[in-house]
Amino acid sequence: MKRSGFMAVLALVLLVRCAPAENDTERVMEKFSVSSPSSVNTVHFGLNDGQPHYRVTRFGQEVIGWSALGLELKDLPDLVNGFEVDAHETFPVRETWEQVWGQSRYVDNHCDVLKVFLREKEALGRQLILEFRAFDDGVAFRYEYPEQPGLETFRIMDELTEFRLTGDHESWYIDAYQWNRYEYYYQNSPVSQADTVHTPFTMRTADDLYLSFHQAALIDYSTMTMERTGDFTFKANLVPWAEGDRVRVSETRVTPWRTILMSDFPGDLITSKMILNLNEPNKIEDTSWIKPGKYVGIWWGMHLDKYTWHPGDKLGATTERAKRYIDFAAEHGFDHVLVEGWNPGWDEAWYESGVVFDFTRPVEEFDLEEVAAYAREKGTRLMGHHETSASVLHYEAQVPEAFQLLEDLEVRALKTGYVGHGTEIVRYGEDGEELHEWHHGQFMVNHHLDVIKKAAEHKIMLNVHEGVMSTGLRRTYPNMMTSEVAKGQEYNAWGEAGGNPPEHTLLIPFLRNLAGPFDYTPGVVDLYFEEYRPDNRIKSTLAKELALYVTIYSPLHMAADLVENYDDHPEAFRFIRDVSVDWEETRVLHASIGNYLTVARKDRHSEDWYLGSITNENGRVLKASLGFLDPGRTYVAEIYRDGRDAGWEEAPYEFVREEVTVTSDMALPLRLASGGGQAIRFRPAE
Ligand code: NOJ
Ligand code: CA
Repeated sequence: MKRSGFMAVLALVLLVRCAPAENDTERVMEKFSVSSPSSVNTVHFGLNDGQPHYRVTRFGQEVIGWSALGLELKDLPDLVNGFEVDAHETFPVRETWEQVWGQSRYVDNHCDVLKVFLREKEALGRQLILEFRAFDDGVAFRYEYPEQPGLETFRIMDELTEFRLTGDHESWYIDAYQWNRYEYYYQNSPVSQADTVHTPFTMRTADDLYLSFHQAALIDYSTMTMERTGDFTFKANLVPWAEGDRVRVSETRVTPWRTILMSDFPGDLITSKMILNLNEPNKIEDTSWIKPGKYVGIWWGMHLDKYTWHPGDKLGATTERAKRYIDFAAEHGFDHVLVEGWNPGWDEAWYESGVVFDFTRPVEEFDLEEVAAYAREKGTRLMGHHETSASVLHYEAQVPEAFQLLEDLEVRALKTGYVGHGTEIVRYGEDGEELHEWHHGQFMVNHHLDVIKKAAEHKIMLNVHEGVMSTGLRRTYPNMMTSEVAKGQEYNAWGEAGGNPPEHTLLIPFLRNLAGPFDYTPGVVDLYFEEYRPDNRIKSTLAKELALYVTIYSPLHMAADLVENYDDHPEAFRFIRDVSVDWEETRVLHASIGNYLTVARKDRHSEDWYLGSITNENGRVLKASLGFLDPGRTYVAEIYRDGRDAGWEEAPYEFVREEVTVTSDMALPLRLASGGGQAIRFRPAE
């Protein structure tokens, strides 16, 4: 190599090595900051050559380094550079509001707000507003783009929001842009090994600080995934439309909130109300028909292949069987009875074929009117089921009539489903061409909100499967009860892994459940079902299945097993029957991501407390201090625990139910077997 060539290469090497690894953020000029009410967390705002940046500190320590903000637009100058500060304002928010239902009745919304009004120095002189909110348990921010000349309707091609982490934190996540949507087991790796992931994206730093990234109030925008763009740097990656643009902006002039939960205890992530606080207050005036509840259903039998969804010898949805389930529900106080397979359109490979369902009439074998009336007479209700197989346009066309039918039948809850490949949603373009949308892009985000609003008009509560990850919309539309969007119980029946590993339910509360309620469908008490699915089983002890009603949060919880199976486990079933699904308050007593969790919740409608404690494949003993009980009061603790030799692998049915008298100054040992758990109901003794 000639000397000049060598020098050029050397210069290049030096240049590459000297240049900052990622964007140059050293020149960001801090302008303002806002700290949380107790000065725990601070968000800093700055400009770098007119590009907005933010930074986050906690007790003065950096948690997020200077990170870029900005929006790239289609056919318009980007909203990225060339801004100056026009004005800014800070103000406190200190309010308490009452939930229609939830993990706690009252919610404190305490935060401090910084709003920065930016204006382009030249060119169009457009205004962009950034709003930051600092809470003691996290921070959040969003963009606002008021309608103005040069910014009427427009398309966002990229949101540049960065998240510059300070190190290679341990993290838990699932990959984004996968065919099976959100239904994957969580991965656990240093952040430097993650690629493009879904949120909630949860981390632990070397200093044992817990972080979880997500979003709040996802309305008329596309889902944000997080793409790694540097060793420890991530950037918003918005799920695109089929045409490649990411967001179509017309009426809605704000982005969802980008949220970062921060806590020294992982349990505090679970009790955080930040995401709810960032959503708009309830818009449904009469909420008398919105009630948390429990349900049984003709469901698990299809997953076991004992019954089928499609008509034939094994059809699950017969009038006779539905009545038997209704009798059971009525006898034990369940609020709803789900019947899947009630309508035409199911064929043997319904999940492959993009079958087109009819939601306005039943199959011959199922007398819909009679079953719904029978349920009402018995004091329970039929729960509707709309499996759309992701044929969304076809579904939308039927929604008015289908929802009217449910209202006429006095059905109060509806389970919907969108089974289909992640990109399979069909839409037609401007020239009538067939296009394919992701499950989580703006098209589907808008579809789901539209369904929530229409359901509310017909007094219908929703339980959405294969939907969009929750972002706290249940505050604004409290008929949006629960959803799936994770691997639930069904994988125990037919999942390739032979059943969810014991740690799965120890990850759900720190990932999926941070976004909102999860319809896991616990309560399968026949743990082996060899007769139907010999290669699968429930990898849990019986006691753990009970504890899941408390550790997994959902205002609609199912008793998922075939109802006849509860006859063999009357003691265990008692807990399923008793446990509440609506809470005055929630406390996390022990929490370690992927390892163990103990949650205590006070029933909103009685003086009872319920406790659930679960562990992964490792047995352990935890000590539960009962300080949450009323002092000076005696309670009967109805304990459902693993027996002496219990363990998920060999002895899952080793189980003890016992009653002891306790007071708030006591502590109870929670002896959890491998893959085990413990459930307790505390009721006042007198
Ligand atoms: C997938 C849902 O998660 C499951 O609960 C339902 O039974 C099937 N789809 C059929 O709709
Ligand atoms: Ca599913």
